Amino acid sequence: MLNYLFLIFYVGTVLCNATQRPNFVVILTDDQDSFMDGMTPMKNVNRLIGNEGVTFTNSYVTSPICCPSRASFLTGMYVHNHLTQNNSLAGGCYGQLWRQKEHRIFANLLKNAGYETFYAGKYMNQYGVKAAGGPELVPPGWSEWHGLVGNSVYYDFTMSNNGVPSHLTEQYLTDVIRDLSVSYIENQTESAPFLMVLAPPAPHQPFTPAPRHRDVYKNHTVVRYPNFNVVKMDKHWLLRMPPAPLPDTMLPELDRVFRMRWESLLAVDEMVADIIGALEETSKLDNTYIIFTSDNGYHIGQFAQVYDKRQPYESDIKVPLLIRGPGITRNSTNHQAVLNIDLAPTILKLADVKQSHMDGLPIDFERENDVVEERYMLIEYYGEGRDGSVDSKCPWKYDSNNLAECYPEYACKCQDSRNNTFICLRHIAEHINYKYCEFIDSEGCKELYDLRNDPYELTNKSMEEFQAIIAWYSHYLKKMIKCVGAANCNNPLDEFRVLRLM
Ligand SMILES: *[C@@H]1O[C@H](CO)[C@@H](O)[C@H](O)[C@H]1NC(C)=O
Ligand SMILES: *[C@@H]1O[C@H](CO)[C@@H](O)[C@H](O)[C@H]1NC(C)=O
Ligand SMILES: *[C@@H]1O[C@H](CO)[C@@H](O)[C@H](O)[C@H]1NC(C)=O
Ligand SMILES: *[C@@H]1O[C@H](CO)[C@@H](O)[C@H](O)[C@H]1NC(C)=O
Ligand SMILES: *[C@@H]1O[C@H](CO)[C@@H](O)[C@H](O)[C@H]1NC(C)=O
Ligand SMILES: *[C@@H]1O[C@H](CO)[C@@H](O)[C@H](O)[C@H]1NC(C)=O
Ligand SMILES: *[C@@H]1O[C@H](CO)[C@@H](O)[C@H](O)[C@H]1NC(C)=O
Repeated sequence: MLNYLFLIFYVGTVLCNATQRPNFVVILTDDQDSFMDGMTPMKNVNRLIGNEGVTFTNSYVTSPICCPSRASFLTGMYVHNHLTQNNSLAGGCYGQLWRQKEHRIFANLLKNAGYETFYAGKYMNQYGVKAAGGPELVPPGWSEWHGLVGNSVYYDFTMSNNGVPSHLTEQYLTDVIRDLSVSYIENQTESAPFLMVLAPPAPHQPFTPAPRHRDVYKNHTVVRYPNFNVVKMDKHWLLRMPPAPLPDTMLPELDRVFRMRWESLLAVDEMVADIIGALEETSKLDNTYIIFTSDNGYHIGQFAQVYDKRQPYESDIKVPLLIRGPGITRNSTNHQAVLNIDLAPTILKLADVKQSHMDGLPIDFERENDVVEERYMLIEYYGEGRDGSVDSKCPWKYDSNNLAECYPEYACKCQDSRNNTFICLRHIAEHINYKYCEFIDSEGCKELYDLRNDPYELTNKSMEEFQAIIAWYSHYLKKMIKCVGAANCNNPLDEFRVLRLM
């Protein structure tokens, strides 16, 4: 009898502690911007996460491209530390080097600490391809795995269900992710806390809305902020490449892409409402953090570019970020500078799980009403040249291995080039809002923007007038691109402090 009592007491204590640990649901969209009003279609997200939690106004990613950014989200590390540089296997996108070190992702640390972990949707772009182990391979860290094979698509895809590939042709991927997620929530018993990461394809190319959302934004056109189709000779080579400005005949295509992106997001917005509904019905909502964000931003027409990401401008590096959960002030706005590498350390801290290798900082939710704390953030991008993506009808075929994504439909304006390789510092404080970039190209191109007075990045600040600032940023950048770990990456010039920590 006494033994039974002990057992009940013991199990009770364990369960009790376990249920006190919070659950996490992360929704990671693909290419959703914040600059072009990308959150406008998200009425449920704004109501159910924003009004019930905190909305960040200065949220950035370490790289404006899917795979490197996703690798940063998963590891809490800058690109120069996780080494995923582009979307191909050779560039670390689910290549061997990545897979050897994949155990360091935050989900694996949570799983080892007793969490149930669920993933559904796009993972890293090359996941599931034959050369990367095929769809039978389930990445470490996930106890329930529904990973999309390859890059975002909306129909006709292969999903690895715990290592068993299944090909679906008619089903809409966002709805498949929604159904799996709701079912998973309903299946969770009270015994273990859980992490869910849901990665829908929207609003990535080909921007396919669910049939029920087609034409909802039929009459909308792309937002035309002051940097729309503007030619700036003080910007780097790729933007100056012809045709600049884009011909008027391209504009209806830009409007179409803008509309369809918004329409494709509506299924994500419904998914979020359904997931929160399922959490509520199963009495889990109060102990669950819900994080909504995107892997990178997007541009349509800014500075006479067509549509893509891969640029250092706000359209491409700034992303939505909304969080609700226990202890977070409802309906609040937070202006602190945050990065996608902060999410992993934030989640681990809330779950009380230790880590020591991450470059990001746990978000301090208490600081929302304080002055904006000074922060220097690093953005890294490796420009691509890809022979196969330069159409032979475009005049650049002779140099196609140094250029990428040049098609007649884009008026042959290329979207990327090898010398579109850059490092930037994003410097934010209470009265400071700067961006400084250095390009690896034949001109040694540099760009400096004062976003406080120039939010559309129209004027590359004169080097003479800003010489001292440029020298300082250049020095700081050199340290940042070599930084390792949170203390060093958030204070790389404080050599004394770094020495003390070692
Ligand atoms: C549960 O909490 C009690 C009291 O705080 C502690 O002694 C015990 O070790 C915890 N158990 C687990 C499994 O964390
Ligand atoms: C991706 O990165 C790898 C490693 O740096 C490089 O070899 C490859 O050429 C890059 N891919 C493209 C398309 O530029
Ligand atoms: C939930 O449980 C049911 C019944 O066991 C099962 O068929 C379903 O696959 C589970 N859902 C998930 C997402 O695992
Ligand atoms: C779009 O505009 C047309 C013509 O002004 C109007 O008849 C139609 O109702 C509008 N559609 C939507 C979805 O707003
Ligand atoms: C940015 O402006 C400075 C000063 O005019 C100039 O030296 C620099 O080359 C400019 N960058 C580009 C890409 O033109
Ligand atoms: C949220 O705050 C805004 C002002 O910041 C206010 O207008 C709105 O009514 C609030 N909404 C809720 C649901 O509290
Ligand atoms: C960038 O690369 C392209 C393609 O090779 C080349 O035509 C152009 O001159 C280069 N520009 C700079 C500034 O390096």
